Amino acid sequence: MMSEETTTRTLIEPEIVEIETDLLIIGGGMAACGAAYEASRWCSDIRITLVDKAAMERSGAVAQGLSAINTYLGENSPVDYVKMVQNDLMGIVREDLIYDVGRHVDGTVQLFEDWGLPIWKQHGDEGKTLKEGGRPVRSGKWQIMINGESYKPIVAEATKKALGMENIFERVFIVKLLLDEKEPNRIAGAVGFSLREHKVYIFRCNALILACGGAVHIFKPRSIGEGMGRAWYPVWNAGSTYAMGIQAGAEMTLMENRFVPSRFKDGYGPVGAWFLLFKAKACNSYGEDYMVRNAEELKKYEPYGSAAVTATCLRNHLMMLEMREGRGPVYMETPAAMKALFDSVNNDKKKVRELEAEAWEDFLDMTISQAGLWAGLNIAPEERHSEIVLTEPYLMGSHAGCCGMWVSGPADIAPPEYQWGYNRLTTVQGLFTAGDGVGASGHKFSSGSHTEGRIAGKSAVRFVKEHADFSPAVGKPAQEYADEIYKPIRTFEEHAGYSVTPEVNPNYILPKMLLLRLNKIMDEYVGGTSTWFTTNDNMLTDALEYLTLLKEDSVHLAAPDLHELMRCWENYHRIWAAEGHLRHILFRKETRYPGYYYRADYPQLDEENWKVFVNSRYDPETGEWNFFTKPCVQLIK
Ligand code: FAD
Ligand code: ADX
Repeated sequence: MMSEETTTRTLIEPEIVEIETDLLIIGGGMAACGAAYEASRWCSDIRITLVDKAAMERSGAVAQGLSAINTYLGENSPVDYVKMVQNDLMGIVREDLIYDVGRHVDGTVQLFEDWGLPIWKQHGDEGKTLKEGGRPVRSGKWQIMINGESYKPIVAEATKKALGMENIFERVFIVKLLLDEKEPNRIAGAVGFSLREHKVYIFRCNALILACGGAVHIFKPRSIGEGMGRAWYPVWNAGSTYAMGIQAGAEMTLMENRFVPSRFKDGYGPVGAWFLLFKAKACNSYGEDYMVRNAEELKKYEPYGSAAVTATCLRNHLMMLEMREGRGPVYMETPAAMKALFDSVNNDKKKVRELEAEAWEDFLDMTISQAGLWAGLNIAPEERHSEIVLTEPYLMGSHAGCCGMWVSGPADIAPPEYQWGYNRLTTVQGLFTAGDGVGASGHKFSSGSHTEGRIAGKSAVRFVKEHADFSPAVGKPAQEYADEIYKPIRTFEEHAGYSVTPEVNPNYILPKMLLLRLNKIMDEYVGGTSTWFTTNDNMLTDALEYLTLLKEDSVHLAAPDLHELMRCWENYHRIWAAEGHLRHILFRKETRYPGYYYRADYPQLDEENWKVFVNSRYDPETGEWNFFTKPCVQLIK
């Protein structure tokens, strides 16, 4: 029943703030920080504005800190780096983009060290910087160890200094990009809202860099109930990059790709340091190393199966066989690894303590919850092994995953079909991207994402200079954007009080309800954990129907406050990212990434017909999706 209080409630009218800028950077993570830092170095006469939905000091995937920089070339060549990425992503990558990151990434890491990031050095080189020839402690061929709890504050500080706080809008969530009214397929701005004040922002710009990270909570997570906010990739990266890129008509590539990490169960602690630095083995519950036990299986996936380092998805595939065939759980054998390390220092008490501290620090630096879970379960890693498991899938372009936008490559290496003028320009004029946003070039990680942001930043500045006569024309009156963005607040205002419990109301859908529905569809039909990542044509077709209905229902989303308003728009972005992912899987008639997902109706790797990029474009004029393939040009033999 409608209460007195509700009928007399006054409607909230957000203030409309309109801002003109030359270069708009959306996101405040590694790529966006790199873009802002580099763009401001190349010019003092263009206006650069950065908008982050959170506080930049702790926003994005590096929020909690990291314990390693996973891309530092050092003694390795960019060509070797390209080969490694190519093999890890099952052959279909943009070598021009990867090479470009590889040749610049070490300069970025040296900047981090200049800004104050402590990088571990080998014995004898303590106190020497990388630039001075200090040799880093490598955990693997590409990875170096850091004391990285404050990694993000350090990187953010450099960006703030370069840009000036007056040009940075924190806690402003961008809802959608705006296309130009006069020029087709041309970016003109973006709209969003403040999470702290009742303000709607309309930004007009000449060029835009979209760098909002990857997509989490598309699939039902393994964690449930009050633990649901715990995932591996940060839950606040809600697919905004992919959704807003798709909606603006940007060509997407390899959106079928996903990343399924193996992680310490429930705490989602990363495994890299354990495998590479501590040289631990992961075994089934009978103590057998699944990489050894299932080695024959790799022969099905040549030429990738016989590479020196087995591709991440194939490692998953071998691990999954253990689970499917009933030999789980799988454990990271931490006691054996620690014992070998203790022996290597002759069980020297002080050194043993240091090694124990390193084992904990790996998590305390970047996944604190895992250390909490160890404490809660009375696990001392030198005494007791820990379960590892394959998590739910994530969409991302910077880790061992490669979905994202199709971008123009560097002028000196990209073949003509991969190049249309400006490095990291998407197929929408004036729209650039970097980090998780760029498709077909994974394994950038934190350092590579910052590097790619720098590349995009420099390129976007040149674009602005060479299009100085452009004046953005955004279509609708400002009030219409404000009404559209605030619709969920209006819906709640109108209908709150109709029922006693706000969670149960036939007139609206709360963001969490919509999220659970999305998670269920993706999990059960599109290859989530429930089906051991398996799907087929019929499941996908049904899922597309359910997703379309969910998108229709999203007009009934309701938000009691600004935080929930963000949840509404995040989930809307998730639906679009999910749709892109689903449609791409439907189009690719093979199983290119066993261990990430399986097409049960096309279970083989089909090198002859499918060693191509699957690209798509959503037409914002007609609402139609168009799918096509692009050749995969191999530059390095
Ligand atoms: P992010 O850094 O995630 O930045 C995204 C930004 O977009 C954030 O600022 C966010 O607030 C903002 N944003 C999102 N949506 C919106 C919106 N709608 N409007 C406005 N702003 C928005 N890399 C390593 O090198 N070494 C490691 O050891 C390592 N370990 C990792 C461990 C964990 C637990 C995680 C999660 C990642 C790890 N990575 C590691 C990978 C690395 O963090 C990412 O590759 C990198 O951060 C990607 O950069 P990005 O700029 O694309 O995204
Ligand atoms: S993290 O980004 O969350 O730290 P993760 O721990 O999986 O990710 O990996 C860190 C680095 O180690 C990445 O470069 C990854 O490719 C690499 N890595 C992880 N496990 C292995 C393995 N078993 N073999 C080779 N490389 C690995």
